[in-house]
Amino acid sequence: MADQANGLPEHVPYHLAVIMDGNGRWAKARNLPRLAGHRAGVENLRRILRACSEFGIKILTIYAFSTENWGRPEAEVRGLMNILESVIDRELNQLHANGVQLRHIGELSGLSPVLQQKVRRAIELTRNNDQLILNVAFNYGGRQELIQAFRRIVKDGIPPEEIDETLIDYYLYTAGQPDPDLIVRTAGEMRLSNFLLWQCSYAEYYSTPVYWPDFDREELLKAITNYAQRERRFGLVPQSS
Ligand code: FPP
Repeated sequence: MADQANGLPEHVPYHLAVIMDGNGRWAKARNLPRLAGHRAGVENLRRILRACSEFGIKILTIYAFSTENWGRPEAEVRGLMNILESVIDRELNQLHANGVQLRHIGELSGLSPVLQQKVRRAIELTRNNDQLILNVAFNYGGRQELIQAFRRIVKDGIPPEEIDETLIDYYLYTAGQPDPDLIVRTAGEMRLSNFLLWQCSYAEYYSTPVYWPDFDREELLKAITNYAQRERRFGLVPQSS
């Protein structure tokens, strides 16, 4: 799509999902501890939130802690928990003032009671905001999300013939939200890593070698400009044929 006068592509993704990878490598390249990379990642999140608002992206889903991340060294796991807690403590009022609606996707029950309480309060406080939805995937796994959905479907006694895509959508953590249009992965890997397995069926995929802490407004603009040039076919034939 041709750029508009403001330099933005005509079609920006409504829902952007990001795998924020490369914090550790960013830190290592600077002889810093891994947690310094995660802290730089949080700083970058601030920039990217601002850019999303500027570009008109309405939903941002970030992969902050996967169910597999529990296997990392204990100090790193504790550090990531502390980062989530301090992000809520320090940033919640500003996020709220900026009209950000915070949501959590994943299993809250795996977190400490204090952290669970803080996350619940943040969700409650921001629930009517409508500038941007920020889904924080924390203790999230795509397969676990499907398992909890199937379990609840069975528990609710849904007859098999009533199980369709709409019904499954309803049982996911992302119930009520449109699927991601674009999924961005930083730091060069080419895999989904158990992220939004159901929801990303038709998402466009963009991978960049840039580490997450360096993935700034200009890099996001590159990603959405690339996205705008794609023809999304959803399994159909090209429009020109
Ligand atoms: C991947 O980099 C990143 C993570 C596992 C954590 C991402 C977390 C943040 C940016 C901070 C948390 C944000 C919130 C909102 C709580 P990596 O450590 O796998 O990097 P590497 O592959 O280079 O080692």
